[in-house]
Amino acid sequence: MRIAMIASEAAPFIKTGGLGDVMQALPAELARIPGNQVSLFLPYYKKVKYDPAVEAELVSSFTVNLTWRQQYVGLFRWAGSTDSLAVYFLDNEYYFCREGLYGFYDDGERFAYYAKAVLASMTALELRPEIIHCHDWQSALVPVFLEAEYRASFPEARTVFTIHNVEYQGKADAAFFGEVLGLDDCWRGVCSFDGCVNFMKAAIVQADLVTTVSETYAEELRYPYFAHGLSGILSSRGERLVGITNGIDMGIYDPATDKALAANYSPAELAGKQLCKRALQKELGLEEKDVPLLAMVTRLASHKGIDLLCYVLRRLLERELQLVVVGTGEARYEYALQAVAADFPGKFSMNLRFDPALASRVYAGADLYLMPSKSEPCGLSQLIAMHYGAVPVVNAVGGLKDTVPPYNPETGEGRGYTFQSYNGDDFYGAIDRALGDWHANPAAWAALVQADMEADFSWAIPAQRYMELYCSIV
Ligand code: GLC
Repeated sequence: MRIAMIASEAAPFIKTGGLGDVMQALPAELARIPGNQVSLFLPYYKKVKYDPAVEAELVSSFTVNLTWRQQYVGLFRWAGSTDSLAVYFLDNEYYFCREGLYGFYDDGERFAYYAKAVLASMTALELRPEIIHCHDWQSALVPVFLEAEYRASFPEARTVFTIHNVEYQGKADAAFFGEVLGLDDCWRGVCSFDGCVNFMKAAIVQADLVTTVSETYAEELRYPYFAHGLSGILSSRGERLVGITNGIDMGIYDPATDKALAANYSPAELAGKQLCKRALQKELGLEEKDVPLLAMVTRLASHKGIDLLCYVLRRLLERELQLVVVGTGEARYEYALQAVAADFPGKFSMNLRFDPALASRVYAGADLYLMPSKSEPCGLSQLIAMHYGAVPVVNAVGGLKDTVPPYNPETGEGRGYTFQSYNGDDFYGAIDRALGDWHANPAAWAALVQADMEADFSWAIPAQRYMELYCSIV
């Protein structure tokens, strides 16, 4: 099958979050399936364009229009492309040669341009994708422009739109419709919501299928508490809104081979994990002793549950344990966490940085991994944590609910500790149960760690499910 993937970031080229990981792993996994030809489209950001490690050659250039604007598109093909997986970068220095990816005053215009530029590029390449799979609001206008202006070039193409996080919808004021999109007025209804232009809403109504990144989140999106205003629109898609839980690239995230670690280990040979814990304590100035080590690697954003962490923090740190937090984000959380860390030297290590190698060492050194997110479409770090043998403590929402079934010490079933409402005392209670089991029965704990490490979170299963969905609409 010929599949075009459209996104705004993909590792290893450029990544700001989980979307970047998914866009690295999913296209590669689909390309491994015999008979598939996958083309991945990305903006040619400054950081990618001037990265000496990323070689690409110019294939073609042309312009696209957004009302009176006529904008250049340079179509580059990555030198590492193969027959089954080609990566294309769309060059326009005015829109993309900036520091950072998002958060500019003209993001709406930048990604409206991007949607058109992708369709024009596929036309120039004479790609005939059967599936055009778009991700998040940055590529959400592709299904709209396809139908409104490019249908003749792609008469057979079907569209899939995946929501990685409904919180970011891509909104612009109503005038944007006429001033930038330049679409026929019959498209105004599709593109508008609540008096604004709303990119994500347009894709939800226009795409042949809408998916999201876990089964539970697909259900949650039908309710106002989770849907950031779009519950009505999302539930109107009925069975055409489907959840497929993400995987992780188990080749990249592997404690048996990870070079960032002080020692490598596997489920059969856990001794290395103990060495990693000691090494981490030493590296971060924690007391080198055998107490439970709790960890979080996270953006310090409110939906990640940092309020709950702040609420339980001092009570937690009175106990015999250690805590490591790695991440940056909202200033209020950075200040609050640093202030507490100053009161608990040797016990609480607060690391205000984004450092993938340190993150690996934290997953490897931790006994418990905390993820009290208020909502979590899928969540990747709980999967990495489990694969590194850190037992998760999670709020049972979205992908956390789907990937961390509650542990039952009586039967040994389950993978971690869950709580059921966004409440600090319930979070504390779940940690308390985990600590109880850690102390009570080391052999059972080791078996839990082993089972978590052995769980299959690979992309093979989700990639198959995407294939089934694609087949159901082509
Ligand atoms: C977003 C979501 C996260 C998900 C990721 C990849 O970052 O917030 O839960 O795992 O996308 O789909």
